[in-house]
Amino acid sequence: MRLDKLLANMGFGSRKEVKVLLKKGAVRVNAQPVKDAALHIDPVKDEVTILGEPVVYKEFIYVMMNKPQGVLSATEDKRDRTVVDLLDEENRRYEPFPVGRLDKDTEGFLLLTNDGKLAHNLLSPKKGVPKTYYAHVAGVVTEDDALRFSEGVTLDDGYLTKPGQLRILKSAEVSEIELTITEGKFHQVKRMFEAVGKKVVYLKRLSMGPLVLDETLALGAYRELTEAELGLLTQLSEN
Ligand code: URA
Repeated sequence: MRLDKLLANMGFGSRKEVKVLLKKGAVRVNAQPVKDAALHIDPVKDEVTILGEPVVYKEFIYVMMNKPQGVLSATEDKRDRTVVDLLDEENRRYEPFPVGRLDKDTEGFLLLTNDGKLAHNLLSPKKGVPKTYYAHVAGVVTEDDALRFSEGVTLDDGYLTKPGQLRILKSAEVSEIELTITEGKFHQVKRMFEAVGKKVVYLKRLSMGPLVLDETLALGAYRELTEAELGLLTQLSEN
């Protein structure tokens, strides 16, 4: 990778600003002063410092967000605010994208990353990564619905879903449930309830694979994954 690109990516200014730093002799590679912006370096092996401070290289970013309603799971949109708009500039520099989509009116766990391989693994139908949702459902949800979900239900387009695990927390006029599914068809949770004649009126994702929503995150807030959480993802990639 070019030295100026590395420094710009790590937040030391635009490529132009980085060139000024280089000209001033502020940058060293493996203890040698370097002024050549085009120098190719290995960002992992070579030791880069600016005014003696090491530049720690990071290629990927992994952010957990508690997505609020009213925001799109996209990187950009002409009309609406997107989840990427909620990130600060330092995080946006890595060009993260949401791993899968939550509807505009769905809240909860959303992972944003620039790690395409990981995103692919989490979303691949072959991996069948479980996702758990909490919902308020208009209509009395019963054990009969749970049984139907456990066998898979037929959606409005004729698609038979994989089995879903339904846990009824409160069976009432407006029921409260948790549902775990292993696929991610368009509006899947809402359409599964439609298939049993009920309507989801509030939806929040609680978890995706081994990652669980950090409930201390306010709606719209986010944080980078911890080392422990990253470790869980590595296991997923290896399996
Ligand atoms: N299922 C839905 O219906 N909506 C979502 O946002 C996620 C799953």
